[in-house]
Amino acid sequence: MRLGILTGGGDAPGLNGVIKACSYPLLEKGIELVGICDAFEGVFNQKTIPIKKELLRDIHFQPGTILGSTSDFSITHRPQEFLAHYKKLKLQGLIVLGGDGTFRQLKPLSKEIPLIGVPKTIDNDLKGTEITFGFDTACTVVSEAVESLKYTARSHNRWIVVETMGRDSGWIALASGIATYADAVLLPEFKYSKEKLYKFIKKRSSEQRGGIIIVAEGLSAQLMKTKTDCKHSAAFFIADSIEKELKLKSRVAVLGHLQRGGRPTLFDRLLTAEMGFRASQMVLGKKWGTAIVYKAGKVTTAPVTDLMGDNRLVDKKHPWLELAENENVFVNV
Ligand code: F6P
Repeated sequence: MRLGILTGGGDAPGLNGVIKACSYPLLEKGIELVGICDAFEGVFNQKTIPIKKELLRDIHFQPGTILGSTSDFSITHRPQEFLAHYKKLKLQGLIVLGGDGTFRQLKPLSKEIPLIGVPKTIDNDLKGTEITFGFDTACTVVSEAVESLKYTARSHNRWIVVETMGRDSGWIALASGIATYADAVLLPEFKYSKEKLYKFIKKRSSEQRGGIIIVAEGLSAQLMKTKTDCKHSAAFFIADSIEKELKLKSRVAVLGHLQRGGRPTLFDRLLTAEMGFRASQMVLGKKWGTAIVYKAGKVTTAPVTDLMGDNRLVDKKHPWLELAENENVFVNV
């Protein structure tokens, strides 16, 4: 058998761990493994690398993806063209490590290409799974940053607005906010109320010096609608308004791609070791059309089409909101 492995969309710590864990058992069985370079683009360009044991040595603790990836190359309007190029690679199947964008683009081809899907995104917002690998590492990076920023915020009596990734969802912001006892967390899922936030900041400012507000980048969509002078991003908007309207000193820390480059945590290493191994077992059992997901505390399987739907957002009943309340973390619910 000749099998392709592809990593799609933004990188997430743990991609290499999955590649390694699924490749070993497949190579043992004599399966030829073809690494597709730069996601869908590699299929069009027929750019591949052979995956051999030597390539896999010590990659499980390296962030990024040894295969390369891109989110700039779309097949949305040309699935049949993609299929024609895929056929030229003469593969009997494809293991895809991807996020919502990658799997949605593959939806029209889910019956034509034998697929095994492994969900990934640091944002943790894929439907069909409760945890995606990379999320734990990203939250660890954010938590370390917030802990450091707390000291300087206190010293200078400043409100530091920390912006996390999360284009559509606030999972990283919420989890990191709880983990660090941040003062406030602003999520894109819920309506932003300047009045409620100001009331909270005023009260907290009378009790302590400065504070930390974690804002998920996706909130900018809401803020931009109401104010055209949002030059940079959600964090700059909030910090500007705190300085101008509350007359409190404020600073911004946009964590950006740092969140994608952390060394996989123990949790992510174990998760990817298991997900990769289970993916290899699905290939050997010819269980095409399967996704390796995490549900109710364990790694299990589901139809790969489960990964091809909308995003999974924080909902008002999620237990983490109760934890935030218990820690007196303000959330814009
Ligand atoms: O989807 C994952 C994500 O990390 C988003 O949170 C973020 O908006 C996006 O990737 C950034 O992508 P890029 O690396 O293309 O700027």
